[in-house]
Amino acid sequence: MTPLSFDMIEKNIGALRLVDQPIETAAGLPNDAYTSSAFAALERDAVLGRSWTCIGVGHQVANPGDVRPVTLLGLPLILLRDMDGEIRVFHNVCSHRGMELVTAPCRSKGTLRCPYHSWTYHLNGDLRATPFVGGPGTTDCGGFDKARHGLKPVRSAVWFDAVFVNLSGDAPDFAEFIAPLAERWRDFDASRLRHGGEDSRFQVDVACNWKLAVENYCEAYHLPWIHPGLNSYSRLEDHYNIECDGHFAGQGSLAYRPALNGNADPFPAHPGLPDQWIGAAEYIALFPNVLFGIHADHFYTVCLQPVTVSRTIEHFEIYYFDEEAADADHGKLRQANAAQWLGVFEEDRGVVEGMQRGRASPAFRGGVFSPVMDRPTHCFHKWVASKLTALTNA
Ligand code: FES
Ligand SMILES: [Fe+2]
Repeated sequence: MTPLSFDMIEKNIGALRLVDQPIETAAGLPNDAYTSSAFAALERDAVLGRSWTCIGVGHQVANPGDVRPVTLLGLPLILLRDMDGEIRVFHNVCSHRGMELVTAPCRSKGTLRCPYHSWTYHLNGDLRATPFVGGPGTTDCGGFDKARHGLKPVRSAVWFDAVFVNLSGDAPDFAEFIAPLAERWRDFDASRLRHGGEDSRFQVDVACNWKLAVENYCEAYHLPWIHPGLNSYSRLEDHYNIECDGHFAGQGSLAYRPALNGNADPFPAHPGLPDQWIGAAEYIALFPNVLFGIHADHFYTVCLQPVTVSRTIEHFEIYYFDEEAADADHGKLRQANAAQWLGVFEEDRGVVEGMQRGRASPAFRGGVFSPVMDRPTHCFHKWVASKLTALTNA
């Protein structure tokens, strides 16, 4: 830990400890957690970096050779699918002089060439070519060992097509991390997922810290005022809280049946589901930064990409559980479904950005939780605070 980040924890240690009180007396995370760049830098390495953080989905690199640069609070990464179809993540930096290797999504024929001095890497990360490394006309040089200078891999895993990375390399096994959610949603078969295509993908660029997007997703409390449309077919009264300490939080709806284009059952459902899932939904924020929505007929992932301490890009990807739902005949309905979800996330823009602006006020000191309605939000705050207070014991 740098002295700067240690100062940031010391300054906020009292506030962080207040988060881990019973909900009736707890306060939320302090303003620095949403407004301070030093805090964000600490959080990137100590919270996001030590957990399993989502950086995108496999469908963004759908074909062998697809390559996509991704940044996480300025840290440059490459997400790619190698020629064997395997998803891999590397640090997006050339081993020679540290040039950023990939600047835009592209389709590779099997290698990545650095634009600076043309060192070339296999998609498995191996350094393959080093032109003129020993002088003009050479490709080799005494004492220079190519095998030591490949791309630097990042530990990664894929679940329900979401791609997770563990930057520190020492988080518990991914299987252990995902087990509670995998168990909760065991009725769903991830191999059935079919991405809805280009019109089932959108981004919402919001002027707020990534945690506010998580917190807003954790609660149904705001439905009547912010989402009157959604609240008409999935009412606040039909929702329940979801809390799994240390893992995820969110809400479920016992009644989700929108009439898309006048059709109440627009897509074929996942076969063989228990009755409890028919006309129902669950919305879960898996800590730290990915939001999932699951329904009998469709599933979505919202990967929250922290860009700066006060800017987040929400990457929305919609999938269906039946081949037929992804066919041409369902194109208009898929568009209507995507438009419906985009509308909901746009409705949330005002509140997540308003909470961000509110955190410039010294009169706000973490706020207060409704002991009934805000339990999932408190669950997330406790998780973040615990990661930070643990540093003082390290
Ligand atoms: S910096 Fe990449 S080849 Fe020199
Ligand atoms: Fe909302």
